[in-house]
Amino acid sequence: MSKSPEILILNGPNLNMLGIREPNIYGYETLADIEELCSQRAISHGLKVNFKQSNFEGEIVADIQSASGAAAGIIINGAGYTHTSIAILDALKISELPVIELHLSNIHAREAFRHHSYIAKAATGIICGFGAHGYVLAIDAMARLIECAD
Ligand code: DQA
Repeated sequence: MSKSPEILILNGPNLNMLGIREPNIYGYETLADIEELCSQRAISHGLKVNFKQSNFEGEIVADIQSASGAAAGIIINGAGYTHTSIAILDALKISELPVIELHLSNIHAREAFRHHSYIAKAATGIICGFGAHGYVLAIDAMARLIECAD
């Protein structure tokens, strides 16, 4: 049997605090709840997920570098680094993998400093404002992108 393609799902700083972090904005689901949602959805597409969270920019860059050759696509919620990190943008471009940018909240309806995203420049598409369900939508979209890439 051939191996299921893997999607790397990266979560940036403070997303380990989901569930207790400003639940009025980010919801009550924990990151573990979201990981479970992702695993189930990926299975329904014949995919598997490598789900990670880091509070450190360099670790996220290293994870993106490791994805080349190992993953079929990257879904990234860069959290605060979305708005600041040229290093993450550069790593995503180097990977040449399909990238989906994801946010729980609608960053465009929030403070002006959240309206700009470096990650967007490397992304095929962006999903934001749907809370934890956004991860499910992103996996569905990535499944389609990977199919098209075959
Ligand atoms: C976020 C939005 C970012 O602006 C913020 O810094 C986060 C979470 C989201 O998922 O809505 O940490 O990426």
